[in-house]
Amino acid sequence: VSERVAVALIGAGMMGAYHAESLARRLPAARLAAVADPSEEAGRGLVARLDAGSVRYERDYQAVLADPEIRAVVIASPGASHPEVTAAAAQAGKHVFCEKPLGYSLEEADRALTAVATSGVLLQMGFQRRFDSGFLRTHALVADGTLGSVQLLRSITRDPELQRPESPLPWAIFRETLIHDFDVLRWLADSEAVEVFAMADTLIAPEYRERGLLDTAVVCVRFANGALATADASFRAVYGYDVRAEVFGSAGMATVGEGRLDSAWHYGPAGVSRPHAHWFLDLFGAAYTAELAHFVDCVATGRPAVVTGQDGRASLAMALAAVESVQTGRPARVANTPSP
Ligand SMILES: NC(=O)c1ccc[n+]([C@@H]2O[C@H](COP(=O)([O-])OP(=O)(O)OC[C@H]3O[C@@H](n4cnc5c(N)ncnc54)[C@H](O)[C@@H]3O)[C@@H](O)[C@H]2O)c1
Repeated sequence: VSERVAVALIGAGMMGAYHAESLARRLPAARLAAVADPSEEAGRGLVARLDAGSVRYERDYQAVLADPEIRAVVIASPGASHPEVTAAAAQAGKHVFCEKPLGYSLEEADRALTAVATSGVLLQMGFQRRFDSGFLRTHALVADGTLGSVQLLRSITRDPELQRPESPLPWAIFRETLIHDFDVLRWLADSEAVEVFAMADTLIAPEYRERGLLDTAVVCVRFANGALATADASFRAVYGYDVRAEVFGSAGMATVGEGRLDSAWHYGPAGVSRPHAHWFLDLFGAAYTAELAHFVDCVATGRPAVVTGQDGRASLAMALAAVESVQTGRPARVANTPSP
């Protein structure tokens, strides 16, 4: 048996905890070596819950970067830290799996990409929808020509519950949430976005409007190959977490994402019903595991990752164009300048 890939987790919050469990328990090719988080409660707490004596806790992520045994890191700290942590990990020669987004501006994203390119490490972005079996089959129907030429696409993301922090993250609906939809649309359209037109509002929590929270948005996208798309998002769907996509082409259509929790239906006097997934881990647990399995395999074999830093940059460019469009009230060009 070849040696397990030693991986450190940076950022032990909600997403990091799931990735840590995957590394510690679900992926035989990986070994979770360390967890870094400035919050002892989060970091030590996660290590204790994993009940894995060999996993060490560090307050400062630099300590795990200095450990020659660790070959790769999974970054699940907040988005604002991603460019800095990605660049530091790359400079330390560690392969990087980075949760979305790559950063909040193209300048900082490009600094991280330069560090990655210079050191020659692998960078995989956390766009797990690309590892979901339904999304994969939809993509295959495009790639093998079954749908003909792609003309229209749509992508939908609805979170079950609105977070109401004191100061909401600016533009989160585009830079944190719809960035998934932008990545999926690029992937399914097999083309780069050239122009977007976005509208957004505060419909769920109007009392948060003056704090800059946007909780509802719709975005129109034009791709270089002519395909047209829409993406929309809401931060509160009363029926649960809802992620769907549709590709309409000259030879047919594919839809994905019915949000079912399991395959059982209930037949009763009021009709037929089935439970709907409430939480994102219900829908994408297998995809989160599959994306890390791919990352660990790429680290072990030297193969390139199928979701790259360039994908992180291109989806960020779409999100930033959507922000610009909301600010100006007009369509915005997507900045697709060459990157490192
Ligand atoms: N792919 C997805 O579907 C998905 C879903 C949820 C979250 N995410 C992403 O995962 C990341 C984390 O989100 P979350 O919901 O788990 O957040 P969270 O707030 O629950 O956890 C973040 C953790 O990072 C820690 N942290 C802060 N600065 C750090 C640093 N410099 N080094 C190490 N740790 C640091 C915090 O103490 C906290 O424990 C975000 O980038 C988010 O966009 C992705």
